[in-house]
Amino acid sequence: MWLAPFKGITEKPYRNAFSRHFGGFDAMYAPFVSGVGNGRIHPSKLSDILPKKDNLTPTLPQLISTDAREIILFANTLQQQGYDHINWNLGCPFSRIANKKRGCGLLPYPDMLDKILEEVFREIKVKLSVKTRLGYAHPDEIHKVTEVLNRFPIDHVILHPRIGTQVYRGEVNLKGFAGSLKACRHFMVYNGDIYNLSRYRDLKERFPEITTWMLGRGALMSPFLPLQIKGITLSDTEKRKRLWAFHQELLEEGRGRISHPGKLSGSMKAIWYYMSGVFANGKEVFSRIKTTKTPEALNHAIEETLQQPFASDKEMGNYFKKDIRHVGRES
Ligand SMILES: Cc1cc2nc3c(=O)[nH]c(=O)nc-3n(C[C@H](O)[C@H](O)[C@H](O)COP(=O)(O)O)c2cc1C
Repeated sequence: MWLAPFKGITEKPYRNAFSRHFGGFDAMYAPFVSGVGNGRIHPSKLSDILPKKDNLTPTLPQLISTDAREIILFANTLQQQGYDHINWNLGCPFSRIANKKRGCGLLPYPDMLDKILEEVFREIKVKLSVKTRLGYAHPDEIHKVTEVLNRFPIDHVILHPRIGTQVYRGEVNLKGFAGSLKACRHFMVYNGDIYNLSRYRDLKERFPEITTWMLGRGALMSPFLPLQIKGITLSDTEKRKRLWAFHQELLEEGRGRISHPGKLSGSMKAIWYYMSGVFANGKEVFSRIKTTKTPEALNHAIEETLQQPFASDKEMGNYFKKDIRHVGRES
């Protein structure tokens, strides 16, 4: 079970607090690094992933780029810092990224993809995996993309079965995923819309070949989901205790980093936008949290929130329905 990357949310403090208070993940993917350039990488670009020993759960660094030299530099720099694997983002759907042929914007250009991989694999000594979608504008783009990926020693392919123009709207395309699973010779990981235990079980039944699952918004909403999938159920009292400790740890860490109180509560609200869904009346819970203006008022709202009943499996399955707004810094 792997944690999906979320730029603006799942940076190091979140990942480590998650590992301490909830656990259940075997690996975590760090949000993408971009604009590393061709010279020496500025240390601030790598502060989320270095030093490697700071990661409480094994972590994979991710890069977004269409410049083979940048990818090589990123790979070699991280190799020197003890990493043996990098992930390449071919899935980010946001227009200002995709318009520059980055993220899923590269998927309509398989020849370019081929050239980049050719150059990269000639020079890197670490493993390379990709996180991708079915396409940018059309789900058939994955066919040619898969042909290209099959020509290289890619470590694994994480596939979110939507196209870029959908962003997170509509249903995941499970037929499209099944087709790619057949055509791709690499180890494949499923990612998309696993919001509760029953959805996970349905997908597991549908794709028995898949042994590794990447959880995104489902785990951000219910941080108990990875443990639950592994058969560990916590009491409600224990869950409340852990949510409070997680919140406190992130708030305290944020205080050391963010001096502006509004910005500090803003960063906590980005987390609670997702995590409110673990409560039965998640939308109302978040409306209350959203209106707070200071960290103190936010704490008070969280204390009240923690007295609310937890959401059922079905309620969690519906929390993101019809909601296309996703809070984070980028992506
Ligand atoms: C706010 C936000 C930030 C994201 N940042 C990244 C990122 O840095 N790298 C990446 O590969 N995917 C990123 N994603 C996509 C997620 O990792 C994941 O693939 C997506 O949410 C679908 O999985 P899910 O349905 O389980 O949430 C981001 C998504 C959102 C909503």
